[in-house]
Amino acid sequence: MAFASRHLLGLEGISAEELLYVVDTAESFKEISERDIKKVPALRGKTVVSLFYEASTRTRMSFEIAAKRLSADFVSLSASVSSASKGETLLDTARNIAAMRPDCLVVRHGAAGAAFFLAERLDCPIVNAGDGSHEHPTQALLDLLTIREHVGRLSNLKVAIIGDVLHSRVARSNLHALRTFGAEVRLVGPPTFLPPEARNWGHVCYNLAEGVRDVDVIIMLRIQRERQGLNFFPSVEEYARLFCLNRAALAGASPKVVVLHPGPINRGIEIASDVADGPYSVVMHQVTNGVAVRMAILFLLVNRAPIAAETEEAADMPRLRRSAG
Ligand code: NCD
Repeated sequence: MAFASRHLLGLEGISAEELLYVVDTAESFKEISERDIKKVPALRGKTVVSLFYEASTRTRMSFEIAAKRLSADFVSLSASVSSASKGETLLDTARNIAAMRPDCLVVRHGAAGAAFFLAERLDCPIVNAGDGSHEHPTQALLDLLTIREHVGRLSNLKVAIIGDVLHSRVARSNLHALRTFGAEVRLVGPPTFLPPEARNWGHVCYNLAEGVRDVDVIIMLRIQRERQGLNFFPSVEEYARLFCLNRAALAGASPKVVVLHPGPINRGIEIASDVADGPYSVVMHQVTNGVAVRMAILFLLVNRAPIAAETEEAADMPRLRRSAG
C-alpha cells in the first residue's frame, strides 16, 4: 500500500475519504496561522527532522513553520552541509538521524523511491517532500485544499496540467488525487514532455489554447531543467512562444478558471507575469495553504497511538483516522 498508516509516501492508492480527511484537518488548522500568537501545543515535546538533498524554498520552510506552529522542535539538515558531501550514503545518514529518536523525518531526494526506501528500513514516520520525478504528496494535498476553496468542490473537475509532465512529481501526485475525485484531466505540452503512459492518465493535447478551453483548473508545471539530460525542446524561446500561459492564451478559458503553480516560477517561460500575478492566479494561496496541510500531516502522523497499542478494531479504521489515534 502506497500510504501506510505511519508514513506519507505518495498519493497513489489513497482513497477519496482519506484525502478529504487530510484536507479537512488542514482547513481546521488554517485559523491558527491567522492568530496573533500562532502556536498550539499539539506536538509539544516532539521532534521533526527534515533531510533535504535538493534545493527548496517553500516546502522546507513550510514544514518548519508547520512544525513550530504545533510546538514541535524542528531540526533541518541539507545534504550540501551534511556528511553526504563526505561520501555517507542516504541510508547511513538517515539511520544516524533516526538513532537520535526524531518523531518524524521529512525527506526530499533526487531519486524516485528514496522515501519508500527509508520507510522500509527506519523505525520512524517518513514524509516524502519530493522524490525525483515520482511524487510530491504534500504539494498535491495543498493543491486540493486550494482548489476546493476557490472552485467550491473537488468532485468531477475538468483540469489541465500544463508543461513538463514527464519530469514532474507534482503532476503525478495531482493526477492520483484528482482522478480519485473523478477529474477529467487534460495533459498539455510538447510531445517530448508527455510520456507514452500519459494517454492512460487523461486526454493528451499539444496545443495550449485548446488545452485550457472550458477547464475549471489549470495546474502549471515548472520546466525541470535540472532533470532534463537531453534536449526536450529546440529552445526556451520556442517553448515560451507555444506554451507560456499568458493572458492571450487564457482568452478561451472559463472566466472562473483558477491557475495554480507549485513554484518556483520561471516568469516568461511557463507562465507570464500577467497571469502569475493576475486575477486567476491562486499561487500565493497555495503557499499559505501549504503550512496548514503540513501541520495536518505532521499532526496526523506524529500524534498517533503506538502501533503496539492498536486494537483489531482500530486496524479496521481508515488509515489516517487510525494515525490520528
Ligand atoms: C516543486 C518541487 O520541488 O517538486 N516545488 C515545490 O515543492 N514547491 C515543483 C518544482 O520544483 O518545479
